[in-house]
Amino acid sequence: MATVGILDAAKHLNDHGFLITLARMATQPANLPDSTTLEKQLAEGHRDDRQRQGFLARRRIARAILAAEAGVDPQAVTITHGESGEPIVAMPGGRFHLSFSARADIALIGIARSPIGVDIEIIGPGMLIPLNMLRADERTLLEALPEGARASAFCRLWTAKEAVVKALHCGFQMPPEAIHVDGWNTGDTLTLTALETRPGGVTAEASAWHLKTWPNLVVAEETGGLVVGAACIA
Ligand SMILES: CC(C)(COP(=O)(O)OP(=O)(O)OC[C@H]1O[C@@H](n2cnc3c(N)ncnc32)[C@H](O)[C@@H]1OP(=O)(O)O)[C@@H](O)C(=O)NCCC(=O)NCCS
Repeated sequence: MATVGILDAAKHLNDHGFLITLARMATQPANLPDSTTLEKQLAEGHRDDRQRQGFLARRRIARAILAAEAGVDPQAVTITHGESGEPIVAMPGGRFHLSFSARADIALIGIARSPIGVDIEIIGPGMLIPLNMLRADERTLLEALPEGARASAFCRLWTAKEAVVKALHCGFQMPPEAIHVDGWNTGDTLTLTALETRPGGVTAEASAWHLKTWPNLVVAEETGGLVVGAACIA
């Protein structure tokens, strides 16, 4: 999989106000900035070395893009996280929002001038769809699809829901069934149609959010032809 050049990415961010980039740990962009002491400390919270390396790599890539966009030293860009775990950027020269997702050795990074959430899921052979995570109406629509189309349709729905809860910074404190999405089972443009307000829960207007998605990306041969679904909201 090609990785986006840092300067191209920064230009895209500047021109469009947001950027989504996929990176594989094995083929990271050249000349990434070193990890900071803070990032190394935070990485210690991860269970194994692969997770720690992924955590650090996501931040090195994000800081490189942000620094290039704002014309500052990457060491001047600090990425911490808020109370619910959402990533937070502090830097001179701009106000940016970040979102991360990772599966296997693939990272998805979203950077934007407004709140953003991204999520990646990998559909592999024999993937079991967690039907218990869906509402009854979603299960019915899913089961009406040809069997071979179900995994990617589920992936469109689920990545959209995770992107929403990340953009809202609440994570799944907002339950997945409270998020209503259209278009996931038909292949049409994804639309966020409702966010139910739960007692004590997060309030947000579905109409204030725009879902963007890309056709499933077929990852090159080296991953064995896995299909990756990526959705983001910006
Ligand atoms: C946020 C959440 C959806 C992440 O999903 P996931 O499938 O575990 O992991 P992903 O790889 O897709 O995403 C990981 C990224 O989510 C981000 N993240 C974590 N909490 C977040 C939040 N509240 N808002 C936005 N982003 C968040 C982190 O940046 C993390 O990346 P990092 O390890 O580089 O920091 C999930 O962990 C969650 O819901 N956490 C909150 C837990 C919670 O509230 N539980 C209550 C019981 S229902």
